Amino acid sequence: MARLIKTEKEVEGRYTEQWVVVEEDALEQWPEGPLQTVGRPATRVDGLARARGEARYTQDIRLPGMLHTAVLRSPHARARVKQIDLTPARETVGVREVIGPDDLEPLTDEPNYEGQAIAAIAADTNEQARAALDAISIEWEVLEPLLDVDQALRQESYVDDPKRYERGDVERGFAEAEAVVEAEYRTQSVLHNALETHQSVCEWEGDTLVVYTSTQFLWGVRDEVADAFGLPKDKVRVICRFMGGGFGAKGSAGDYTLIAAELARRTRRPVRCRLDRREENVNSGHRNPTIQKLRLGARADGTLTAIDAEYMCLLGWGGWLPPTAGPAQMLYACDHVRTLEYGLRLNAPPMDAFRAPGFVEGTFGLECALDELAAKLDLDPLELRRRNHTDHDPMDERPFSGKELMECYRLAEPHWERRHEVRARSEGPWKHGVGIATQLWYGGGGPPSYAWVRLSGDGTATVLTAMQDIGTGTRTAMAQIAAEELGLPIDRVTVELGDTAHGPYATVSGGSSTTPSVGPAVRAAAGDVARQIREIAAQRFDLEERLLSLSGGNVNSADGGSWPLEEITGMLGDGQILGKGARGPNPAGMRVMTYGIQVAEVAVDVETGEIVVERIYAVHDIGRVINPLGAESQIEGGIIQAIGHSLSEQRLLDPKTGKVLTQTLDAYKLPTIADVPEIVSELIDVPDAHLTNLGSKGLGEPPIVPTAAAIANAIRDATGADVRSLPITREEMLRALREAEERRRATERVEAAPA
Ligand code: MOS
Repeated sequence: MARLIKTEKEVEGRYTEQWVVVEEDALEQWPEGPLQTVGRPATRVDGLARARGEARYTQDIRLPGMLHTAVLRSPHARARVKQIDLTPARETVGVREVIGPDDLEPLTDEPNYEGQAIAAIAADTNEQARAALDAISIEWEVLEPLLDVDQALRQESYVDDPKRYERGDVERGFAEAEAVVEAEYRTQSVLHNALETHQSVCEWEGDTLVVYTSTQFLWGVRDEVADAFGLPKDKVRVICRFMGGGFGAKGSAGDYTLIAAELARRTRRPVRCRLDRREENVNSGHRNPTIQKLRLGARADGTLTAIDAEYMCLLGWGGWLPPTAGPAQMLYACDHVRTLEYGLRLNAPPMDAFRAPGFVEGTFGLECALDELAAKLDLDPLELRRRNHTDHDPMDERPFSGKELMECYRLAEPHWERRHEVRARSEGPWKHGVGIATQLWYGGGGPPSYAWVRLSGDGTATVLTAMQDIGTGTRTAMAQIAAEELGLPIDRVTVELGDTAHGPYATVSGGSSTTPSVGPAVRAAAGDVARQIREIAAQRFDLEERLLSLSGGNVNSADGGSWPLEEITGMLGDGQILGKGARGPNPAGMRVMTYGIQVAEVAVDVETGEIVVERIYAVHDIGRVINPLGAESQIEGGIIQAIGHSLSEQRLLDPKTGKVLTQTLDAYKLPTIADVPEIVSELIDVPDAHLTNLGSKGLGEPPIVPTAAAIANAIRDATGADVRSLPITREEMLRALREAEERRRATERVEAAPA
């Protein structure tokens, strides 16, 4: 029966209430532990196609008569176009169409950040389009950009009103504290740098607009494009079969899609608009920098009595305020908490979601401050975290659904214990140490998401759902789920995804929500088919339906009989068995989150400030694990990206002009394979008993959350120095070492002074 419910929908900490229709879920959760296919390592079902170059990405789409686009982007952080003449560009060789500020919404003549789109050219070749850019005659009035944080605060240049949160009475909390730490932390802007840059190919088929795009959200792009062109939603078809990464920056249509669609409308030709790597590094979003002022108070036994936190988020022109205060609000039991978050609007490119936006930044500050507190209290940092564990969301008393964080702590114990032998490796200028940090993040997903399953006469199944696989391996996970429910080997299941014209609605691939949102719908659809098979087999063999089950490609009867599935389906000839499934609701009155802890081992050269991360141990609780192999890869990817965030990556802006200085990959320092440490990972793999028919949560984001703090805490363990600013460059490392040395001398002076 279809049921209408009001549900709380969460994506990356942004909550909305909405009505959804959910189907009554007939399925009980599977028993715990590895099953036939689910819970066992599966290589990617599309791995060979990707490796052989057969997988078609948006980058590979070449349509007959396709035109190429170059976009004139503002070279200034803030300016006004005094005069623009597109005519000479129109007359350039190969050019088919030119549009300017008056022709399309995202094109502007008053740019507020470098790279904002002004005009666009469609030509027969990429080179011709680029060459025609020079022919556009343009006169600028360059304006003073707003780049300074203090000035922005004085001018109240907020993207939203500052966000305030308070529980208890913080001042009372500090009065109860026996130890207080106070520190300022900074995090930098980092770039997503997906291998496939942002791009779309648009083509009009009659009155339908077909959009091939590299996206994390087919249906979101459909809605945006339909809105922009005043089209009925189903007159926009969005296709993304294979995708070369997004990490949060490909959640919306982007100017390139609207530009391609408009140029295609005007020329009646397919049009490609693709960001090159420089445009990618300027215009495609980034993790916003933060300045964090934290004050923590605790009793001598480690009980946190107060957390007071202020976060300044430098969002650029636009963007949205990510949940930077989330960890301070939710990670630990603490009666008195006050947070204040500002989102500052500056003349810089707008931020976009980036793998656990807010929580990555907020966890760095909080988990570093917590270790400074542990040092002050002379308490074991792991024990301090245990003592402040909470089994309910301290913001609203809602119990957490499955939460195995204490088990994560237990499994991390022997890795934390390694600190004694690791420290003993210190020799000469190289100091070794170990640090930990806890992770909390969303990842429970939610409705609506739907799937269909089609079983053919030859006993092969096809899953149809208009989701996207952004490179995380969800195609494989969906195949495993359907195979498990149908009792089929995985190679008899095909997953068709990536096209809004094929299959029903599925969720955004963001907020670690794909598997927990679409997975239960796939299982429900496969369950619908399985039920029909049992009904048909019962009639065919004159057996009781309740005795029948599916496994190993067979229909089995509890009293001994077993028939290959094809014996049932083969009767149907070209007939098919069709199943449909919907994602059920989240548990009412509970908070669904993911948890984990990481242990970092580092070596620091105290003379040069060089830092080497030698080993990371990661243990995460995401409920039931669908594919342990995919999960392990996801952890490794998150940690490697976090190492770049911790040590080397930084988008730099010219402080005067606001221009991006790091536009290429030789200026912007991504980690290389030489920077990758030994990574040891574990997953708890206990289904969340309250969460849908799967008990699974997402893992796209959790592994990147605690790494930077674990590394910084390991650096403190090794050297006694408090690094407080990301990336931890040699400069920052040496600054922290000097500060530690001065502190040590000051203490010595005090101790040496006559009483
Ligand atoms: Mo979000 S950063 O796309 O998961």
